[in-house]
Amino acid sequence: MAHKIIKKQQLSENVFTVDVKAPLIAEARKPGQFVIVGLDAEIGERIPLTIAGADTEKGTIRLVWQRVGKTTAQMSELNIGDEMGYIAGPLGTPTHIEKFGKVVCVGGGIGNAPLLPIARALKDAGNEIVTVLGARTKNLLILEEDFASISDELIIVTDDGSCGRKALVTEPLEEICKQSPKPDLAMVIGPAIMMKFCSEVTRKYDVPTQVSLNTIMVDGTGMCGGCRVEVGGETKFVCVDGPEFDGHQVDFDQMMKRQAAYKDLEKKAYEQYQHKCRIGLDANNNK
Ligand SMILES: Cc1cc2nc3c(=O)[nH]c(=O)nc-3n(C[C@H](O)[C@H](O)[C@H](O)COP(=O)(O)OP(=O)(O)OC[C@H]3O[C@@H](n4cnc5c(N)ncnc54)[C@H](O)[C@@H]3O)c2cc1C
Ligand code: FES
Repeated sequence: MAHKIIKKQQLSENVFTVDVKAPLIAEARKPGQFVIVGLDAEIGERIPLTIAGADTEKGTIRLVWQRVGKTTAQMSELNIGDEMGYIAGPLGTPTHIEKFGKVVCVGGGIGNAPLLPIARALKDAGNEIVTVLGARTKNLLILEEDFASISDELIIVTDDGSCGRKALVTEPLEEICKQSPKPDLAMVIGPAIMMKFCSEVTRKYDVPTQVSLNTIMVDGTGMCGGCRVEVGGETKFVCVDGPEFDGHQVDFDQMMKRQAAYKDLEKKAYEQYQHKCRIGLDANNNK
């Protein structure tokens, strides 16, 4: 079944969002779950993307992605009316939502997209939500208005100070952990290195911490082992046991090493794709 794109928006230089038809997934999905998306139903890479929102009346799900390589670049070329050939899901274990009390939600870069439905569900469950959003620079900050509408307090930081405070997310996170009462839970989603250092901060203050891991995935169903990580000394599969885990138990160094395993191949595939696009453009110009 092909999935038609109903709405498309560019959120920043390299971040795109679409509402795409997938009525059964829209009905069944829960915060924290993801889909595996392929542009073609038969061939090509399939990549995991978090379900950032859903509209059951329209039968659509919302996907937000950052253009980082070949497949996300190809997806960014799609427009309203185009179709995605393959969307499987909802996959993964939904986020455990309950009234914890005070929850600090920390998002970094594209991590803001998966964080949003979780923060919204935590707010709906009666939690006080303090959100910290970070980006390298103002142009890379996404979804701040959505977070403003659900947060009791919103703190924005950028590495270069172009928006909000000039700081890394760990700085306000530590200040929040020092407050009384301290947070009952930290929910952290972003690059692995950010989740690692946020978990180091919350560990000092004994604040329970959930992170959502973005390992390499292939099948998304626990069959291939591509997404395995060490959590508390045990091997876990992110696609079925996660994607959320106790940040104090995750072996981030091993995860980052595995994430980098295909860097050279990924770079080559992206360069070849960009080269092909340029040749295509030249050919059109010569017509
Ligand atoms: C559960 C989960 C949810 C995710 N949700 C989102 C999201 O909502 N938005 C978003 O922008 N990104 C998300 N990601 C990451 C996204 O899947 C990758 O950015 C994407 O696969 C990159 O593909 P590419 O071909 O464009 O880039 P590539 O050139 O293949 O790779 C670029 C980078 O993406 C990573 N990557 C490559 N292939 C995969 C793969 N099959 N699975 C995971 N990571 C991969 C690589 O480690 C590399 O750092 C999620 C990942 C997981 C595991
Ligand atoms: S992606 Fe294959 S086991 Fe998780």
